[in-house]
Amino acid sequence: MNPLRTLILAVAGNETIRRVVAAAPVSRRVVRRFVAGETTEDAIRVSGELGRAGLRVTLDHLGEGTTDGALAEHTVRAYLELLDALRERRLPPDGGAEGSTPNGPAARLSDVAEVSVKLSAVGLRLGERLALDNAARICAAARRGGTTVTLDMEEHTTTDAALRILARLRENWPETGAVLQSYLRRTPSDCAALATSGSRVRLCKGAYAEPAEVAHQYRHEVDLNYVRCVNILLSGGGYPMFATHDPRLVRIVAERARWYGRQPGSYEYQMLYGVRPEEQRRLAREGEAVRVYVPYGGQWYGYLMRRLAERPANVGFFLRALASRS
Ligand code: FDA
Repeated sequence: MNPLRTLILAVAGNETIRRVVAAAPVSRRVVRRFVAGETTEDAIRVSGELGRAGLRVTLDHLGEGTTDGALAEHTVRAYLELLDALRERRLPPDGGAEGSTPNGPAARLSDVAEVSVKLSAVGLRLGERLALDNAARICAAARRGGTTVTLDMEEHTTTDAALRILARLRENWPETGAVLQSYLRRTPSDCAALATSGSRVRLCKGAYAEPAEVAHQYRHEVDLNYVRCVNILLSGGGYPMFATHDPRLVRIVAERARWYGRQPGSYEYQMLYGVRPEEQRRLAREGEAVRVYVPYGGQWYGYLMRRLAERPANVGFFLRALASRS
């Protein structure tokens, strides 16, 4: 693994550093590039903007790794409030406030936006049962609003629990999506197990620091495993969601999708809010389904650190913002 990435992820776990970075005004400026804002209204506004640009959205209420039941409950309620708002609100027409178009009522926001949920934010560290019950409440609210939930994937120590919870949720809400990480050695076999009809799987490289026993350490191995998984998912009966900003992998997905006879819309590309926005729009203009992962909320620290670890240019951006302040 890139030593800078390992260093940032290691430093990110230090509580003193967390307090300094979280309190620094400059952090907030950097955060704005990657995070929609702190409130449900911010999430709604950005979903409307992206939806109007022909993009789909998955909203993540920031927070993770809680060992506090009250905080897990707070997160669940934030999702329920968000899902109500997505159901009630409509996509704003071009250049205007939310409302109707000349041809009738605009689409609901829930037609373009779903939610992504980290199980550790809804209580996984307090027990699998609590995380399952809380995730089920979110899935039920999403179904009422005509939209879906995707379970984010976190450290490898939680992969089995997350897949068990997914299987339970899919008994009632088969539309629930999962994330698999190509840096994990096990992932091709997880892809094969999930590449079945109706199954939504987001494939990403993986964002955590993981040991060599379970995870590929070199970029080319992670990328090779990604391509292996692209083939498994595209040749299966499910709905694959390819989450990457990597231009080479985007090209390979396009080529493999054609090879397997997949029509645009029978799979999708996903990218993060604030990362390669022009590429997101280019793919959408070409008729591809593109979904943008939009985080919002006050607990942005862990998310920001993973974005910095991924890309030295993002660290440069952070340091330049810091220097321009002094
Ligand atoms: P990588 O970081 O290897 O970059 C490859 C190339 O992409 C770069 O060389 C550059 O060309 C281009 N690129 C990357 N970032 C760029 C930038 N900022 N600007 C311009 N070009 C850039 N992880 C996880 O562990 N669990 C999860 O649940 C999720 N969920 C998730 C959802 C979505 C929608 C996305 C896009 C990503 C995730 N991730 C994730 C994060 C994922 O695992 C991974 O860490 C990042 O997407 C970075 O990996 P890339 O595939 O983009 O390639």
